Amino acid sequence: MNILIIGSGGREHTFAWKVKQSTRCTGLFVAPGNSGTEAIATNLNIAVTDFEAIKNAVIQNNIELVVVGPEDPLVQGIHDFFLQDEEIKHVAVIGPQKAAAELEGSKEFAKEFMMRHNIPTAAYESFTKENVEDGYKFLETLKPPYVLKADGLAAGKGVLILNDLEEAKSELKSMLVDAKFGEASTKVVIEEFLDGIELSCFVLTDGKDYKILPTAKDYKRIGEGDTGLNTGGMGAISPVPFATKAFLDRIENEVVKPTVEGLKKDNLPYVGFIFIGLIKVGDDPKVIEYNVRMGDPETEVVLPRLKTDLVEVFQAMANQTLSEVSINIDERAATTVMLVSGGYPETYEKGKEIIGVEKITDSIAFHAGAIEKDGKVITSGGRVMAITSYGNTYQEAIKKSYQSIERLHFDKMNYRKDIGFDL
Ligand code: AMP
Ligand code: GLY
Repeated sequence: MNILIIGSGGREHTFAWKVKQSTRCTGLFVAPGNSGTEAIATNLNIAVTDFEAIKNAVIQNNIELVVVGPEDPLVQGIHDFFLQDEEIKHVAVIGPQKAAAELEGSKEFAKEFMMRHNIPTAAYESFTKENVEDGYKFLETLKPPYVLKADGLAAGKGVLILNDLEEAKSELKSMLVDAKFGEASTKVVIEEFLDGIELSCFVLTDGKDYKILPTAKDYKRIGEGDTGLNTGGMGAISPVPFATKAFLDRIENEVVKPTVEGLKKDNLPYVGFIFIGLIKVGDDPKVIEYNVRMGDPETEVVLPRLKTDLVEVFQAMANQTLSEVSINIDERAATTVMLVSGGYPETYEKGKEIIGVEKITDSIAFHAGAIEKDGKVITSGGRVMAITSYGNTYQEAIKKSYQSIERLHFDKMNYRKDIGFDL
């Protein structure tokens, strides 16, 4: 079958790499894609939220399966768009419909969902401009640090963690009254700070059953030792060494099962990935957030460990026969290190030639913010390339990634040299 992947990051290159290995895939398209996908698929120059153009491409190329990488098209209802159109409603779409995508699109919706279904999470209250004074009072009842979350999508920047009460109040005002994050902060969730170590759990569901993929841990801060500004992710490791069988069982029973059951009870159709951001507080799993897609760069370590044919899995999800599929996982660890443009996550230059990609033999180079131009691979974004390796241990894998990186270069290339430091 012909398959279209929507997106342009390292995540989508990894999807393309994995889908391409399936004999069930006869034609592979990526919109808009990057230099990595261009080498193994046909890139279509279409924006991820241009649904009409996506529809035309689907018809023109006889696409039967669409895999949606990023959250924006899901939150804007790409799956509903397909279902409502006679010409494309038969096409399988991997990604939830708009109503369920609110689990990522609205923090308050996600919190209410968790409360309704008894899923462990931080205590919270939400506020708008109209009751900002109550927000100040609520902050006074909490102990620092204070966690403020813009309700809507804010490109990963909508969460503030502050130590000072006065600063927390002033940020709350700036979010609600001065629209610091635009529309996204017309509502703000204030929640209890959870102290623990983070990990992510990835679930596939067809709306009836679920399968759990390997856990992963990403490194979000730009600086070594988890310091500096937040980024989209600077590296990742799978599996997470501290996620023991007993802890994973608790995650499955206390979080995954009630989540999938909750979707059913609430009548929220869901065919896609659920990415559950967790914090281990003592021995307890607590949910910090839901995403309705895979993580990036977590995908770059999770999919390389999946031995099962991914197209077979997608077909089973679309046909609601996921329970009949067995998911086989590579025992080895996988790690990835993200190469970024100097200056990222603040301003940075683009258009730098990336030299040495062909010399990477012990690792896989998943392209992210990189495009092909005049036969060269050049940088086109902040996060440029994820270098993934396997190892019997994560230490062995990470060493390989760092050795491979020595063969690669672009002007002002930056990366974290301590991925896995805290494990
Ligand atoms: P989010 O955008 O919801 O993933 O939040 C961004 C980051 O903020 C998370 O990865 C956590 O590191 C941190 N965070 C979010 N909520 C909490 C919380 N309640 N307690 C502690 N840290 C949090
Ligand atoms: N790496 C975090 C995310 O994809 O949201």
